[in-house]
Amino acid sequence: MIRGVIEGTGSCLPEYQLTNDQLEKLVDTSDEWITARTGIASRRIAGPGEETSKIAAEAARRAMAMAGVTAEEIATIIVGTMTSETTMPSCACLVQKEIGAVNAFAFDISAACTAFIYGLELADNMVKAYPDRKILVIGAENLSARVNWQDRNTCVLFGDGAGAAVVGGDDTGRGVLATRLFSDGRLGDLLYMNAAPSMNPHINNPYEKTDPAEAEDFDPARLGFPRTDNGSYIKMSGREVFKNAVLAMEDSIDKVLEDAGLSGPEIDWILPHQANIRILHNLGERIGVPKEKIFINIHKYGNTSAATVPIAFDEANRQGLLKKGDLILTCAFGGGFTWGAEIIRW
Ligand SMILES: CC(C)(COP(=O)(O)OP(=O)(O)OC[C@H]1O[C@@H](n2cnc3c(N)ncnc32)[C@H](O)[C@@H]1OP(=O)(O)O)[C@@H](O)C(=O)NCCC(=O)NCCS
Repeated sequence: MIRGVIEGTGSCLPEYQLTNDQLEKLVDTSDEWITARTGIASRRIAGPGEETSKIAAEAARRAMAMAGVTAEEIATIIVGTMTSETTMPSCACLVQKEIGAVNAFAFDISAACTAFIYGLELADNMVKAYPDRKILVIGAENLSARVNWQDRNTCVLFGDGAGAAVVGGDDTGRGVLATRLFSDGRLGDLLYMNAAPSMNPHINNPYEKTDPAEAEDFDPARLGFPRTDNGSYIKMSGREVFKNAVLAMEDSIDKVLEDAGLSGPEIDWILPHQANIRILHNLGERIGVPKEKIFINIHKYGNTSAATVPIAFDEANRQGLLKKGDLILTCAFGGGFTWGAEIIRW
């Protein structure tokens, strides 16, 4: 059976590090609170030249170099992001241009923090149909541009970064063994970010549309736009998100383990979405995987949404932790809500 196998990984983190101590000067918080409640000590903040597509392209180059694949050989580019610097072209098309993947078709997927796992599932199915194709799956975010830096409930959590994987077809028993993906739009209000501010009132605040016919001269100022707080920042009910994240990820992991005919203790590594260290330790306990087998880098980068999982894959891979044949479980949870889990034989 042909399965999607990860042939190379790469990641790219912006240079600038924002520490908890620095955040203490911005909002009413403390290093002690952030570290104890989330596990985060520092996060990266993108500057000029580190736009979402730029760090995505760099992560892609590193993944292609490891896989020994040229840009011309890439058949498809899938980028999971909700913070591309453009809505059109897609971030994936910007990456295509940047790396010179002239033979690829490229598109973005929007599934918040679960987007990379959604992308891997698509890639796995694509190579089942076309085993010779090489597919770039990327998760990349510039969340610092969409965080309300006056909201201590959210601004301490997020960071910027990108990770990438080259997926190809393999019939030796390695690759994606099972995937379970879910979403529930009814929970969308617990964690959301409206569209970016725009002169178009329909886009400016989709939850409070103003009839443009009311503005004969289409005067944005008279309609109350532009607004400084129109919900285009990340908004979150932290405690509710926490509860749902634990339950949903546990459920998807139970299901994917069952699909693969495996039990928790058989897993060699969990490479999870990095949202909160307490969520991850909880999860490990519930499914019977010890802390030492859960890859953690949240202390360095915070929550980089779609990028956390591919960055974790890349760091674990480059540290030599992943051995051929290892059973790897990845899982994620994000706004939408979206969530899912996947098991890969490395
Ligand atoms: C956000 C989160 C860390 C908050 O931790 P918590 O233990 O649930 O804390 P609570 O929300 O119960 O808040 C406890 C208190 O800390 C305060 N607080 C919130 N953020 C704070 C901060 N940065 N610094 C200091 N205090 C803070 C709250 O205002 C609250 O104060 P109150 O009791 O006076 O109202 C936690 O809920 C969480 O991680 N949720 C999931 C978020 C997530 O992962 N989102 C992305 C999903 S992809």
